[in-house]
Amino acid sequence: MVKFMTTIPAQLNESKDKLVILDQTLLPEEEKFLELTTPEEIWEAIKKLRVRGAPAIGVAAAYGLYVASLAINTDSAETFRSEVQNIKDYLASSRPTAVNLFWALDRMMARLESETGTVAELKAVLLDESEAIFTEDQEMGRAIGEFGLSLLKPGMGLLTHCNAGGLATSGYGTALAPMYLGHEKDYNFKVYADETRPLLQGSRLTAYELHKAGIDVTVICDNMAAMVMKEGKIDAVLVGCDRIAANGDTANKIGTSGVAILAKEYGIPMYILGPTSTIDMETPTGAEIEIELRDSDEIGMGFGKRTAPEAVKTYNPAFDVTDAKYIDAIITEKGILRAPYTESIRKAMED
Ligand code: MRU
Repeated sequence: MVKFMTTIPAQLNESKDKLVILDQTLLPEEEKFLELTTPEEIWEAIKKLRVRGAPAIGVAAAYGLYVASLAINTDSAETFRSEVQNIKDYLASSRPTAVNLFWALDRMMARLESETGTVAELKAVLLDESEAIFTEDQEMGRAIGEFGLSLLKPGMGLLTHCNAGGLATSGYGTALAPMYLGHEKDYNFKVYADETRPLLQGSRLTAYELHKAGIDVTVICDNMAAMVMKEGKIDAVLVGCDRIAANGDTANKIGTSGVAILAKEYGIPMYILGPTSTIDMETPTGAEIEIELRDSDEIGMGFGKRTAPEAVKTYNPAFDVTDAKYIDAIITEKGILRAPYTESIRKAMED
């Protein structure tokens, strides 16, 4: 189904008893797959960004909950449910911002609560639900890609930030999906990938997967975005999202908000691309989104040595919030949402 991506970030092994993830911390140098079974291994893989990107985190957590449940040794359905709940709470503590993590885990628990049967049957229910989450994730990328492509023209220069591609989902990705579909139709986009400090998801991952697919991609440092916009190289900005509040404010990788403000100044459309599972109706505005603060060494260390004096303080928020007023459209698998977002989002979520 997916023509270009050969690497799926989180999937089950053939015997369906292990979670297989591609360790993204080793890219672009090494493609290494890890087989995980315990809650601790799965938690660590999400926390350390071995598997990352909002939809892929959701899929990894869903499969992870199922795989970890296989080791629960009881004949009591009640005991089984309560132990699954403990694993779910533990996995949910791995990262706070991407709502897909909670969405996928809540969906798994809701399905478990709605079914009766033996422990073996309940394990099969968890398998079924996690596979449904995986399959839907694959399908949504294609739909987002089609809607996104309808806003683009052949030959355009596109800027993206972080990685919202196949490595962040189970298929075409979100922000990169229109690029893949356009490539199939010879659109010849020129993609600029912000390197995305501090963990370089743009240069390590986005450039890696676009280049592998044969798409024209140029890596720039984050502080070059204004320059390439001013030079007229960018016709549209396409980024993913980790949580969209009910009013359209959107959390995405740190640096996205600055790119959006620049795009407004230079009259370039700013598009957010993501599945409706990334919309959190429980979060009224961006102000209520919890932003993950990560280890200071991600800033103070680089290239195997110190990049800031050891004693110096650092501040390392992993995400920022782009105010809805800077967003020209939110492109979901259900369609293209426009301002006023409170209304268009509510309508999309009701459909
Ligand atoms: O910290 P990461 O690498 O998980 O951050 C990922 C992003 O910010 C992506 O842009 C977002 O999750 C969208 S993925 C389709």
